[in-house]
Amino acid sequence: MFKNVTTLTEFILEEESKFPQATGNFTLLMTLIENATKIIGSHIKKAGLVDILGQTGGTNVYEEEVQKLDVFSNDLLVNILSSSNLVSTIASEELEKPIRLKNKGHYAIFFDPLDGSSNIDTNVSIGTIFSIYKNSGNYLQKGSQQVAAGYVVYGSSIMFVYTSGSGVNGFTLDPSIGSFLLSHPNIRIPEKGSTYSINEGYFEMFDIKVKNYISSLKKEKKYKLRYVGSMVADIHRTLLKGGIFLHPADFKNAQGKLRLMFEVNPMSFIVNQAGGKSISGTADPLEITPTSVHQRTPIVLGSSQEIDKYLSSIKS
Ligand code: AHG
Ligand code: MN
Ligand code: MN
Repeated sequence: MFKNVTTLTEFILEEESKFPQATGNFTLLMTLIENATKIIGSHIKKAGLVDILGQTGGTNVYEEEVQKLDVFSNDLLVNILSSSNLVSTIASEELEKPIRLKNKGHYAIFFDPLDGSSNIDTNVSIGTIFSIYKNSGNYLQKGSQQVAAGYVVYGSSIMFVYTSGSGVNGFTLDPSIGSFLLSHPNIRIPEKGSTYSINEGYFEMFDIKVKNYISSLKKEKKYKLRYVGSMVADIHRTLLKGGIFLHPADFKNAQGKLRLMFEVNPMSFIVNQAGGKSISGTADPLEITPTSVHQRTPIVLGSSQEIDKYLSSIKS
């Protein structure tokens, strides 16, 4: 029997229609992001076939190797968004400075065009993360000011997951028709989980409190360790199955590794909207006043009870 399905575009239009003053610009912006990620997804699928892998020979602003798909994804998003007149600030993990456009665009967008790029050439899930703000004089706004955030995971299927502040919804790409279809309505992160996700290779560099917390999980003997090394994939699993994800500070990286504007804020917004919690040190990451576009911050997020347990462990 025919089952009615909801496409991503229909869903966003429906959400926007709840706001009588809405202009349709938000739906258009989301559609541009959707289209860009479909193109990125199709290139990722071909990555093993065409000579698109490998390094471009340069380094990004973090002195990390830049691989060709990162550059491709970045350039595609920048091109599509800069010609739209919808955004007047475009900031990307791959750009040293944000692009400020002289147009009347209402939005500022921040994105990590390709997250988990070290996993590209081994066929492991990677993603795109985006974060949208209303324009304001200062483009560096707190994460709590985000109007929407989302990610696309390029995995065994391609999924688009986003929030605009009223819950989190997930859409799976049906490759036969080229549309994202609502497959995971109103995602709620389980209150507890049995998975912890951290780069344990850094164990000796962690603060004693983090070490003690990890050791306490092991002693409970009910936790599994899962760590992909692509934040999008690790958060996606945590969102659906519950658990905890940590990328804490360590002795080498006092500010942690992940970027506040490109990774931590959007993921914190999503996890909070799904009923989970996020914490940066002992602060709410969404209340950090950013001072630089590429600022890094430690992050722990996941199931509410797992975060509470983590906090009581590090405070004891
Ligand atoms: P990116 O590929 O955008 O630079 O991000 C990589 C990030 C993130 O995806 C992941 O959680 C983290 O790096 C993994 O880092 P480690 O391998 O150092 O743990
Ligand atoms: Mn990233
Ligand atoms: Mn990246």
